Amino acid sequence: MAFSLTVNGERREVDLPGDVPLLWVLRDALDLTGTKFGCGVAACGSCTVHVDGQAVRSCQVALADVWGGVTTIEGLGTPDAMHAVQAAWVEQQVAQCGYCQSGQIMQAAALLAETPAPSDDDIDAAMQGNLCRCGTYPRIRAAIHAAAARLSEG
Ligand code: FES
Ligand code: FES
Repeated sequence: MAFSLTVNGERREVDLPGDVPLLWVLRDALDLTGTKFGCGVAACGSCTVHVDGQAVRSCQVALADVWGGVTTIEGLGTPDAMHAVQAAWVEQQVAQCGYCQSGQIMQAAALLAETPAPSDDDIDAAMQGNLCRCGTYPRIRAAIHAAAARLSEG
């Protein structure tokens, strides 16, 4: 079945069954492989993208149920114009293996859109569903505070 959806500001057409998870639409049909598969059961956060500005687990959203524009890590910023979260991530050298990081960044960007100056508790609550096997949690927290500071400076 044909579906039309907006991904990173571009209208995209896909011809797939409506029950295909958005994760696989992005990775396999649209070649946006920055979004990662970790668990497939909403337990790791590596597949996090934004739908209509909200952080969602793309492994749990069926293609037919996508209710708004999708933003993936490829659309959050560019190397020349990084999102504040991406810039802070580089500055704090957060990533180790990197596998979880696109999901972490998308979750963090959604947090800061709603809560511009999060406390440590706010960060822990928002990020608790995003697992990192490399244990980068202290740097993730530092980078979110750094990104909040960047955003507050405009
Ligand atoms: S792959 Fe979606 S939450 Fe783990
Ligand atoms: S950086 Fe390796 S899993 Fe998070």
